[in-house]
Amino acid sequence: MSPGSVAEGRRRGLPIAFAGSRPATQRDLSQEQRQDDPGGDDERRVQVHLGQGAGERAADREEHLIERRPEPGRQSGARGRFAERHGYRETNRRYNSYLDVQAFDLSRFEDPDEVARRAGVRLMSYAELERERGSDVDGLQREAYALGVKAGADVPRPEPIQMPPYEAIRDIFFAPETFHRASSVVAVRDGRIVSETLTVMRSPGIAYTNFTGTLREERGKGLALALKLRAIVELKHLGARLFGTTNDEQNAAMRGINAKLGYVADPPVIEVEKHLT
Ligand SMILES: CC(C)(COP(=O)(O)OP(=O)(O)OC[C@H]1O[C@@H](n2cnc3c(N)ncnc32)[C@H](O)[C@@H]1OP(=O)(O)O)[C@@H](O)C(=O)NCCC(=O)NCCS
Repeated sequence: MSPGSVAEGRRRGLPIAFAGSRPATQRDLSQEQRQDDPGGDDERRVQVHLGQGAGERAADREEHLIERRPEPGRQSGARGRFAERHGYRETNRRYNSYLDVQAFDLSRFEDPDEVARRAGVRLMSYAELERERGSDVDGLQREAYALGVKAGADVPRPEPIQMPPYEAIRDIFFAPETFHRASSVVAVRDGRIVSETLTVMRSPGIAYTNFTGTLREERGKGLALALKLRAIVELKHLGARLFGTTNDEQNAAMRGINAKLGYVADPPVIEVEKHLT
């Protein structure tokens, strides 16, 4: 992927940041790593993600924190020193990565249907499952959300994710104008979703993974990789150019899967925090 296309992905609204335990913008909540500071249990703690303008602007409002985005490669140095000077300490790094969808070569991978056959699950798009379930759209969304809650608790982060209630998340996962049913893919066993990848189409040609998760007992069977392969194949077919995602540094499993698929990571977004008492 060219640096231009990465920059374009960012300009077009790929993920941003949090400040003060609240999303700096609505977009902040739409990340594969998901709703990662939804609750904000300690109001005296200020959390800021360095690396993207919106978070800084929000921080600025809260703490007169003003900083310019540095050149790639200088991020941790200049920004780290700035944060340290202001009493912040680094807590986590997250990586926004992008896949050049049209350059993707499926032939490097095992057929996802073969993986599914071996695991004894059905692989299908969310659109197909929705058709199968008929009118119970809400029930299906709740099931997909419930898997998000279960698997989301295992995202390796400094602090565990506490997913907000379904009603608060529904529009982020399933907003009619962005949720992309054809490239959201599920693995189904005995009629229940056991693995899922949920995709949004933020603007024409630019897709983004909101969440990928596999139930604990189904992990290590190649399901997440197979789902993402299916999603990519669908996006390629539709002519999408970029497929974005965000992962925590410690998430070896998901970062490994994405690296294998050919995602290219931006410099990290560095999360820092400061205790005000
Ligand atoms: C990340 C996750 C979705 C992977 O699901 P999965 O269905 O087990 O993934 P796969 O079986 O397709 O694994 C694909 C690869 O990741 C590797 N992998 C799995 N867990 C790993 C780990 N903890 N460390 C390193 N590699 C790991 C597998 O070995 C496999 O590689 P291989 O084919 O070369 O052996 C699952 O662990 C999960 O739900 N985690 C919690 C939620 C999460 O972190 N989601 C992603 C961010 S939103």
